[in-house]
Amino acid sequence: MIYFDNSATTQVDDSVLETFMKVSQKMNGNPSSLHQLGDMADGLLQQSRKQVASIMGVQESEIFFTSSGTEGDNWAIKGTAIEKMRYGKHLITTTIEHPAVKESMLQLEQLGFEVTYLPVNAEGVISISDVKAAIRPDTILVSIMAVNNEVGSIQPIEEVGEVLRDYPTIHFHVDAVQAVGKVPLNLSATSRIDLATFSGHKFHGLKGTGFLYIKRGRVIAPLLSGGGQEKGRRSGTENVAGIAAMARALRLLFDQKEQKIAHQKHIRDYLMDELANYSKVHIFSAKQGAPHIVCFALGGIRGEVSVHAFEKEAIFISTTSACSSRSKTSSSTLAAMNVPSKIATGAVRVSLTDTSTLEEAKQFLNSFAKLYENFKDIK
Ligand SMILES: Cc1ncc(COP(=O)(O)O)c(C=O)c1O
Repeated sequence: MIYFDNSATTQVDDSVLETFMKVSQKMNGNPSSLHQLGDMADGLLQQSRKQVASIMGVQESEIFFTSSGTEGDNWAIKGTAIEKMRYGKHLITTTIEHPAVKESMLQLEQLGFEVTYLPVNAEGVISISDVKAAIRPDTILVSIMAVNNEVGSIQPIEEVGEVLRDYPTIHFHVDAVQAVGKVPLNLSATSRIDLATFSGHKFHGLKGTGFLYIKRGRVIAPLLSGGGQEKGRRSGTENVAGIAAMARALRLLFDQKEQKIAHQKHIRDYLMDELANYSKVHIFSAKQGAPHIVCFALGGIRGEVSVHAFEKEAIFISTTSACSSRSKTSSSTLAAMNVPSKIATGAVRVSLTDTSTLEEAKQFLNSFAKLYENFKDIK
């Protein structure tokens, strides 16, 4: 079996699963309980927070555990909107965001907020001049993903941050779900990023885990009200076992990070170079993009047909993003990149992780050669 759908989710690492099971079995108290079992769970929770903060280069007080990337995005956006609506109701984002951002923005539009959607060029990248032009006196939030989940384009986050230095009251949110451990991301005290979203299951942690970075001094309204966990900002009994397991997964992700990135880049470049030899293949990812994503189409063949043809060979890939793949709508990122819809409907995404191998890429290309032979005469 070849699993090349790591942007949808990753295999849980064995030692991460072991951590989850051990904590579930041996430290199953509620961190809010006053007794010893509660203290133990709380101790582990704070230790995990410390570990995550230290890996990310931020303060412990800036890490808030969530249930997913989707929750982090919703919280950053709607929490900012609720907190800052008395100062302004204008938000800026891009045309290629994950639905967790896009749908949050649409919901806010229905409530009377205004949203500017920044266009992207043919490589799926925004322009800084568009960011500058979009800012208004009533802008309260700029939300831009670091790495696009469909084609892997990298956005100029540092440069956007530089622009926003002149606008200190605007919150700058970065969806870093596909970026962490793959591309540089500076969350240090000098960085202009105020909020950043992460998801545990994208880096060999468990589903249902994630964290939101909230810069010290920045305030967003809570979305989950209740017992006051996470310093009153995100209520709900903490998933201590999942959090401890995620902290371990994050540590593993950053262990020999540069070598892992180079390894994925090497496989990605090999796949791109080989696929480029086929005249009916359109490649939408660029080599300067994220090291783990190749999005391409085989002209005339619908993406789901390719996905199922690969599945027959025990190779698992996606039609662009896992979230939209069941809805049968073509990729909104490719539409924003001005890819004609006839070509975009053929798009598939191969996404790698640090355990992917060159051998797997070769097998993938062998299967692709067969598929191409079968389908090449289809117009
Ligand atoms: C860029 C991006 N943001 C947010 C999410 C949502 O994360 P989760 O699956 O943890 O809800 C994803 C998941 O694919 C993603 O790729």
